[in-house]
Amino acid sequence: MSRLDVTETFHSITFPGHLHTQDSLNYATNFKFQDTDTVIVTYPKSGTTWMQEILSLVLSKGDPTIAQTQPNWARAPWLEQYYSPDVLNASKGPRIITTHLPYRLLAPALKQSKAKVIYVARNLKDVSVSYYHFHNVAKFLPDQGTFSEFLNAFLEGSVHYGSWFDHVKGWTSHSKDIQNFLYVTYEEMWQDLHGALQKVSRFLQCPLTEDELIRAQKHCSFNSMKENAMVNYTLIPQEIMDHSKGKFMRKGKVGDWKNIFTEEQSFLVDDVYSSQMADSSLKFLWECPAEI
Ligand code: A3P
Repeated sequence: MSRLDVTETFHSITFPGHLHTQDSLNYATNFKFQDTDTVIVTYPKSGTTWMQEILSLVLSKGDPTIAQTQPNWARAPWLEQYYSPDVLNASKGPRIITTHLPYRLLAPALKQSKAKVIYVARNLKDVSVSYYHFHNVAKFLPDQGTFSEFLNAFLEGSVHYGSWFDHVKGWTSHSKDIQNFLYVTYEEMWQDLHGALQKVSRFLQCPLTEDELIRAQKHCSFNSMKENAMVNYTLIPQEIMDHSKGKFMRKGKVGDWKNIFTEEQSFLVDDVYSSQMADSSLKFLWECPAEI
């Protein structure tokens, strides 16, 4: 499947036609979840790949064999992407499923099961920068223009996968409607990866010894993942991702937005954030504490 210039619009949200079709999106929204499924839900660039690696390593009790031999999309496929039926039908379970879909599109299917949902959120300034850079690399994403133009589209929610605000608020404000829900932030994984691994292992009811935790932690550190071809996307051919334009495992930092945002852009985001998030109690870490 190529369709690099195709955009699919589904329930008013745009998706890259390279990976999505109307059929694949309908398949996702009508999916029959199993109670044993674990679903990673994220807005793009919020730590999806990191959580896929964390789950693989928790379930294998720190053994990196699967993480180092199976691409992340084969062990934790995106439900809405066209290849997922093949991967899921072949899976012997328990299944790890990934999705970027907003709550309103997936909730009807999900609410009928006891599947475990892990929602990973990241502060939107870092998400916007990471997403902007990813548009340079991923040839299936549209031309993003200048950072300023991209930021306006991002705040408006007109980028692919829709609005960060709708996504984060949609999932977190309905967390009580989902039987098994865990909220984790990118920033907490970054500040305390060991603690985040423990939190995930408790949620999955998959206890790890201290040695297993330390082993898992080693293999899902930024430096390990950066070298792991199964998660750093270097397996994707050049005509789909232009690796000369940047790396998927780019910086892996909290507060990198400070290197690209102007003061004016930061104020603009603060303004939009306070009005859009007025009805939410979520708190984000915006910069690396050592630099505060
Ligand atoms: P940056 O572009 O800021 O470096 P996603 O998987 O949702 O697309 O998110 C990608 C972002 O997560 C990238 O952010 C990537 O570097 C970061 N990331 C992936 N694994 C990480 C890890 N182990 N530690 C810190 N950041 C990680």
